[in-house]
Amino acid sequence: MQQDWSERFAQRAQRMTSSAIRELLKVTEQPDVISFAGGLPAPEAFPIGEVAEAAQRILRDQGACALQYGATDGYRPLRGWVAETLRATGVPVSAEHVLITTGSQQALDLLGKVFLDPGDRVVVEAPTYLAALQAWNAYGASYLEVPADDDGMRTSALKPLLRQAPKFVYCLPNFQNPSGVTLSRARRERLVALATEHRAVVIEDDPYRDLRFEGEDLPRLIELASADSGAPGSEYDGSVIYACTFSKVISPGLRVGAVVAPFEVIHKLTQAKQSADLHTAMLNQMLVYELVQSGLLQRHVAVIVDMYRARRDVMLDAMARSFPARVRWTHPAGGLFLWVTLPAGVDAAALLPTAVAAGVAFVPGGPFHPSGAPVNTLRLNFSNASHEQIREGIARLGGILGASLSEPERLAVPAAAR
Ligand SMILES: Cc1ncc(COP(=O)(O)O)c(C=O)c1O
Repeated sequence: MQQDWSERFAQRAQRMTSSAIRELLKVTEQPDVISFAGGLPAPEAFPIGEVAEAAQRILRDQGACALQYGATDGYRPLRGWVAETLRATGVPVSAEHVLITTGSQQALDLLGKVFLDPGDRVVVEAPTYLAALQAWNAYGASYLEVPADDDGMRTSALKPLLRQAPKFVYCLPNFQNPSGVTLSRARRERLVALATEHRAVVIEDDPYRDLRFEGEDLPRLIELASADSGAPGSEYDGSVIYACTFSKVISPGLRVGAVVAPFEVIHKLTQAKQSADLHTAMLNQMLVYELVQSGLLQRHVAVIVDMYRARRDVMLDAMARSFPARVRWTHPAGGLFLWVTLPAGVDAAALLPTAVAAGVAFVPGGPFHPSGAPVNTLRLNFSNASHEQIREGIARLGGILGASLSEPERLAVPAAAR
């Protein structure tokens, strides 16, 4: 007898959905489509030779260790390196404050697993990182959205949300995915002050920090929280939990990230990770450590920052030339993405089939909002296409926008559907 599997799935599984982006990427994998839809680093920049040499060195010098089971909390030298990086900016952490995760996506999932009961509230920026919502939907999160502008989360709107006792506030301070905007210094300070006042936990997700094209680094929230709390010399016990990753600065395929938090949180996350995957692949952790130790990270970041800055500039220039006047977009100072706002009421998702038919793809903005609105936005990635592809793809998109915006009635969202 055939099973009705949908009846067998747990309630948790019913809440799981496929990422709109992953589904979209399948369509855009056709070779003739110029895709600005994914969030992929430039493959031509991957440090393949250095990774191969490092792998050989590791397997020659400590082969068995690299192929054996390892500790759940991670390869200790790498934990120490992550801690040292933060300690250099005044965050009083040691290796014990660090859990190595299978990408920072796993950190987000584990944080959901240990913090969220069904119905718990989470404060997110609007728009926010889609796969965080996906992770937390499974645990039954409900969302409170903070509006954002060119300076990131509008902290002036945060207070009433904090009064609703959210389990945590999720913030992407640098070159946010999807909008590309960066939280200003004043708002960082305000966010940490408000979180302290309301005893709120903040999850700082920071995959793009090192991909800064111009301007000065701004303090991490965890740095500000450290300055605020604890006697000099005491260990980190702040309310900011920090997630970072080597995906965007070395390789996403290695799946190595980290989470930094007070001991008690790391201990609980480690228990949660044990049942998820025992530990992150040892060889990959050792590779990442070898590469950061050898100075590859700094050299490689310098190369990709130049490459992505140039690609961003080509995209901004092409947009200025070919997008209709009523379209607005962000000017990211780093990262991989920028965010386009079409005139109010225009549905970006409705434009996508026309765009794909014309050989260019983007991600409509709706799914980046837990509430699904507004629909007149879209995300463009600039790291994964050549200058020629960017010029051509943006010209195609500009043509589609130009033609579509002159027929507003065809694309306008019926009031009932907004
Ligand atoms: C904001 C944000 N957080 C987390 C991740 C997950 O990255 P990874 O699991 O590859 O470290 C991504 C990837 O795109 C991201 O944009």
